[in-house]
Amino acid sequence: MNPLERFHAQELPRINRFLEDQAERMHVSVRPTVRHVFEAGGKRLRPILTILMARVLGCRDRDILPLACSLELLHSATLLHDDILDGATIRRGRQTAHTLFGATHTILVGDALLALANRLVAEYGVPALTRHLSEALLRTATGEIQEIAHLRDTDLAIATYYEIITGKTAFLIQAACRCGAVFAGAGDDLEEAAADFGLCLGIAFQLVDDALDYTSPSSVSGKPAASDLKEGKVTLPLLLFLADLDPGERRRLAEDFKQDRLSPEDLENLRETIVSGGYADKTREAAASYLARAETALAPFPASPERDMLALALGPMLDRKK
Ligand code: IPE
Ligand code: IPE
Ligand code: MG
Ligand code: MG
Repeated sequence: MNPLERFHAQELPRINRFLEDQAERMHVSVRPTVRHVFEAGGKRLRPILTILMARVLGCRDRDILPLACSLELLHSATLLHDDILDGATIRRGRQTAHTLFGATHTILVGDALLALANRLVAEYGVPALTRHLSEALLRTATGEIQEIAHLRDTDLAIATYYEIITGKTAFLIQAACRCGAVFAGAGDDLEEAAADFGLCLGIAFQLVDDALDYTSPSSVSGKPAASDLKEGKVTLPLLLFLADLDPGERRRLAEDFKQDRLSPEDLENLRETIVSGGYADKTREAAASYLARAETALAPFPASPERDMLALALGPMLDRKK
């Protein structure tokens, strides 16, 4: 185990206990769904980042736990809603909540988790924490809305694609890092460095997720395989592939994709062509450049084992399989 893995293994039980305890305190009508989400596991990336960032700044106050876990509550709520939007049937290797408990109920459980996270953070009495989390959530919702507005849009500009993934994923990861810094009492410069680190990490994280959608079997990712093409989501592997086609081919494929005329076999062939053409790898290369920027953002922090752990987290981020 490297020091980061040791840290993760050490912190995980406390995080999970806190989340389970929160689930037990919820109304009996909500509890089974919330338990279902938490018991399925998940990497707990966002709370780990909050705790680590505070440690980088020398803060070891255990009272950070509710703040860190509130980020997991917000994340869980967005996953409940996202799986409804995406019509996803599996998540973390389990059936999705909405397929078990119904969409109406699951939307409301997501809302309950959002409210719970807000209350936990409000109890600190630190307006900056509440403001950063609310801002991140606002941007997450906006990213999801923008993504839907651009479904099957093969003319999507790469800049707009980046805007979408920054919105739907990176801002919450940024908030996880920023809130760790705010909790630790960082000055403005270090708070901004923490935010930069989180933003670049978050963009890289979603780029890798978009590559994995093309390459990772469901048994490994715990999510439906190749779902982006099936759902009409235009992500970087497809955008880069389209850009390399000659204009005639591009027009034909774009039209079929727009009109949802591709059969399951056509989609599988398209996926294979995109992967064998190296476009998932190119997407990971784009992620690597954001991870390098994240590493640069760590420079202003004082040298410490925790700063090394954050740097150590970056490589595995690129190689992750789920
Ligand atoms: C999934 O997030 C949603 C994305 C932003 C890609 P994670 O990959 O962190 O999901 P879990 O919590 O580990 O399941
Ligand atoms: C993740 O979007 C962003 C949010 C959950 C807000 P995706 O739809 O790409 O994530 P997965 O692949 O379902 O985890
Ligand atoms: Mg999804
Ligand atoms: Mg989605």
